[in-house]
Amino acid sequence: MKSIKKAVIPAAGLGTRFLPATKSTPKEMLPVVDKPILFYVVEEAIAAGIEDIVIIAGRQKTSIEDFFDRSYELEDTLEKTGKTDLLETINSIRNMANIISVRQKQALGLGHAVYCSKPVVGDEPFAVLLGDEIMISEKGDPTVTQQLATNYDSSGLSSVAVMPVGASQVHKYGIVKPKSGATTEHAFEVESLVEKPTAEEAPSHFALPGRYIFDAQIFEHLKNAKPGKNNEIQLTDSMNLLAQNQGLMACPFKAKRYDAGDKLGYLMANVELALKHSELKDEFRDYLKTLAGQL
Ligand code: G1P
Repeated sequence: MKSIKKAVIPAAGLGTRFLPATKSTPKEMLPVVDKPILFYVVEEAIAAGIEDIVIIAGRQKTSIEDFFDRSYELEDTLEKTGKTDLLETINSIRNMANIISVRQKQALGLGHAVYCSKPVVGDEPFAVLLGDEIMISEKGDPTVTQQLATNYDSSGLSSVAVMPVGASQVHKYGIVKPKSGATTEHAFEVESLVEKPTAEEAPSHFALPGRYIFDAQIFEHLKNAKPGKNNEIQLTDSMNLLAQNQGLMACPFKAKRYDAGDKLGYLMANVELALKHSELKDEFRDYLKTLAGQL
């Protein structure tokens, strides 16, 4: 079994849910406490042993490339002023992994964004992590990408994360139809998938939160993909073909997930991660308690 060494992070969306903040800043670069959203996603990939990270960026996303590049002036200033801790942090970002940036010239959909990574990924299995979803595992637990990689290794099948959602939420997600016997604890085989169904159309309550491990055969399906839901080239449609032809597994996971590309999810991520932050947690908890007393 080949281990997973490459990850693709699509970050080429227009960020319309977050306007006007995202007019000139990619949503993936919005800070959660003191790190951009994308940084948490890259950390998750690296913890799973990923070495090459392909970021699919659109227009106005040069700040993503700059973030992982050298900042001569900043590094020089930090060095001269003796701020070695900060200098180390800044340097470590650059050395985190090989970051490869690929431009998606038109926002044609998530399926198209993933297809843009093919020249770099080649014929290896690879991970996909959506750039606006933050997944935090308990200390010592494997990350969601690691959990998927473990399932891929044991089953030999493409493996994607799923989470239970309420009927009022299914229209926001790709929803899987299990072959049989789906539980919230164990991985199961997928029969088919539907992108953003209505509550009536939804074949289950298992939603895709944006973490995937694919066999390179997904590219064969993406190559011929036609626009689907909302006239976009949907990743879900090619996953459907993958499920029918090669097999696909859905994996419930253990981690806290934040939809940081959504205003409410973003606020939740900031509050909960600030409560875990070594410098901030005590004062912030006191502040929240005082505030809660006034609500
Ligand atoms: C995308 C995918 C969808 C998935 C979702 C997770 O939709 O198309 O299948 O469930 O991400 O956030 P988007 O939110 O980009 O519209």
